[in-house]
Amino acid sequence: MSLSWITPAERIQKLPPYVFARLDELKAKAREQGLDLIDLGMGNPDGATPQPVIEAAMQALQNPANHGYPPFEGTANFRKAITKWYNRRYNVVLDPDSEALPLLGSKEGLGHLAIAYINPGDIVLVPSPSYPVHFRGPIIAGGVIHNITLKEENDWLIDLSSIPEEVAQKAKILYFNYPSNPTAATAPREFFEEIVAFAKKYEILLVHDLCYAELAFDGYQPTSLLEIPGAKDIGVEFHTLSKTYNMAGWRVGFVVGNRHIIQGLRTLKTNLDYGIFSALQTAAETALELPDSYLQEVQTRYRTRRDFLIDGLGKLGWNIPKSKATMYLWVRCPVGMGSTDFALDVLQKTGVVVTPGNAFGPGGEGYVRISLIADCDRLGEALARFKQAGICYQQEAVVSV
Ligand SMILES: Cc1ncc(COP(=O)(O)O)c(C=O)c1O
Repeated sequence: MSLSWITPAERIQKLPPYVFARLDELKAKAREQGLDLIDLGMGNPDGATPQPVIEAAMQALQNPANHGYPPFEGTANFRKAITKWYNRRYNVVLDPDSEALPLLGSKEGLGHLAIAYINPGDIVLVPSPSYPVHFRGPIIAGGVIHNITLKEENDWLIDLSSIPEEVAQKAKILYFNYPSNPTAATAPREFFEEIVAFAKKYEILLVHDLCYAELAFDGYQPTSLLEIPGAKDIGVEFHTLSKTYNMAGWRVGFVVGNRHIIQGLRTLKTNLDYGIFSALQTAAETALELPDSYLQEVQTRYRTRRDFLIDGLGKLGWNIPKSKATMYLWVRCPVGMGSTDFALDVLQKTGVVVTPGNAFGPGGEGYVRISLIADCDRLGEALARFKQAGICYQQEAVVSV
């Protein structure tokens, strides 16, 4: 029997291929061939969740009160812990009942926000490159993506003046993310002030993804959108516990900011999910209350890896600027090589997995992203394989060493 009538909805058919899924297939094939893979492809932190968080979860698991459906809007205690953390971190006061909403990871919320707010045909402003759900969520919702191409010569900052007036007039939402995945770029506070003024002028809903709030080095402190006066009138900010607290598998994140925007997302989610297991919300409270010494340890870990890899790649001809935040290096491909070809070449010759930049939209073409998710021993092994395979970069061509 032909199954050709089982066709996914257009919103699914419109999605560009998910490069990470294709990368998974290639990784599986390489493993079958017996290659010892060094996977620096995903943004999946490699360490364990902090012990106090695990202990809080184990204790909360024993409490039958946690075994039923959690409250739709998240537990009151977790919401209070979120707003307390926000106040401590950014000196911003938020109402835990209306201005904070726990999420099943920030990806879920970023995607659902698009469904809650975008009607078919609405224009959505999205930087390119960007974290995929920033454009895939709006595509699923039927939005029309206006790519704002980011450029290395502009330090990967959004050039708001490049957005045509008629597009700005019609746009409904602008997604953005600093410190950035994948470019590792950071944005100065003045940029946040500019983008808030832009969004107010054109009545655009501003969505900031501050997933890398804590992974910052060399004394740099990322800006929260909500620190900017007036931002709460038009914007929301997404956070995750996945990165800082090594909790990617736990699926815990949250959104804070404008109460009306949050209400739309809450209404949608109430119809689709039940939120996070209450026991995990208790554990997440513990994470947000961890002392600064824990954060310093995490920051030192990623900074050490960043320095080690950048120095090692420097010896192979790469000139990679040291970014002040995130867990990524954003590396220009050798001249004449596209992202996919270069990532495949590296995988086949060395067993090192890097992500082709075009996975993050057309603006990522010509780059690959390397995640700092292995210790320096493993990164050293990756460098040794690069050297042996002749994967090195020079101004004009790839050459063998
Ligand atoms: C910029 C950005 N936002 C959101 C996420 C998703 O995080 P979560 O685990 O909270 O869904 C990621 C994960 O890599 C990310 O890089």
